[in-house]
Amino acid sequence: AGPAAPLKDLVPAPFGATAMTGQLDDPAWREAVLRHCSQLTPEWEQKMERTLGPGFAHDFSASDRVVAFARDHGLRVHGHTVIWYSQGSEVFTDDLPRDRFAAEYDRYIHALVGRYRGRMAGWDVVNEPVTEDGNGLRDCHWSRALGPEGYMVRAFQQAKAADPDAVLFLNEYNLENIPAKGATFLRLVERLLTLGAPIDGIGTQSHLNIEIPAGRVRDFFRDSASLGLPIHVSELDFPMQRDGGHLPDLRSTAERRAQQVARVGELAEAFAALPERQRYAFTTWGLRDPDSWLVRAEGRNRTDESALLLDAEARPNPAYQALVDAFTGR
Ligand code: G3I
Repeated sequence: AGPAAPLKDLVPAPFGATAMTGQLDDPAWREAVLRHCSQLTPEWEQKMERTLGPGFAHDFSASDRVVAFARDHGLRVHGHTVIWYSQGSEVFTDDLPRDRFAAEYDRYIHALVGRYRGRMAGWDVVNEPVTEDGNGLRDCHWSRALGPEGYMVRAFQQAKAADPDAVLFLNEYNLENIPAKGATFLRLVERLLTLGAPIDGIGTQSHLNIEIPAGRVRDFFRDSASLGLPIHVSELDFPMQRDGGHLPDLRSTAERRAQQVARVGELAEAFAALPERQRYAFTTWGLRDPDSWLVRAEGRNRTDESALLLDAEARPNPAYQALVDAFTGR
């Protein structure tokens, strides 16, 4: 098969992928990203693991490089992520006096979000606030210091003050895979809005579990669309192995492939069915198979798993055709 037709022309919204500073000078990566993408999400350069040092020191130099690359090539940038339960606790410690904690919280948000004021399409202001099983809110250093809902309301209010133009998202995973988590998340969005959080959009990461029955993806998009907010498919990938491949996989590859393609098609159809003003962007977490975090984090996606739309040579993977069929209405 020849090179894939540009995804940014196929998808009825800005099409995004992740970018890392280590990829910016790779000719093959640049060629594929500039052919297919109209938006980029820094994969880790805007997270506290990279931006926040001891004594509340800020270092946005890696983030600046990704943002500059996007600007130089006319690509939108989606910021990811300001406040996340899994980062920052080495500096934002539980023993800090509350007023110092709160002052540094606000200062960090203004330093990061304010730095790119007017230049970001949007931000994942809070990432993954709901518990793994979907039955509540995560307990973390943010919630202990500022309240389980308070830290989120505050983060959105500070981010809005820092950049009034950016679309501000609450971002979460397994919303399609686990209906209870999807329902809790949507109720949380509504609750935070009543508490005065200026949430502008819903980010569904869509790291799809291809084992889920048909209909769950469609149902979540139907339910989330009813809030009337822009929706970002923010981190799409679709690994074929179950649970990191630790379970004996009893189905044939052909059967798993059929499940994978069906789920991706269902998601694309659900996204395309949204009103245009609710289609913020459609982002995959990596553009080509080798770009996937699954390769680095779990040594996966090296086989014919094809957890992304393009293979190592940027040719269409099986799921690519499901997008074509869904977005062209075949
Ligand atoms: O590349 C650097 C290297 O230069 C450095 O020496 C080394 C030691 O710190 O770190 C390397 O960076 C790693 C980076 O991935 C690039 O590989 C970071 O350590 C590592 O923490 C980082 O992991 C990222 C992870 O989030 C945690 O931030 C993954 O790339 C990224 O794919 C993953 O993405 C998350 C989303 O943010 C939220 N949703 C789930 C998704 C997958 O876990």
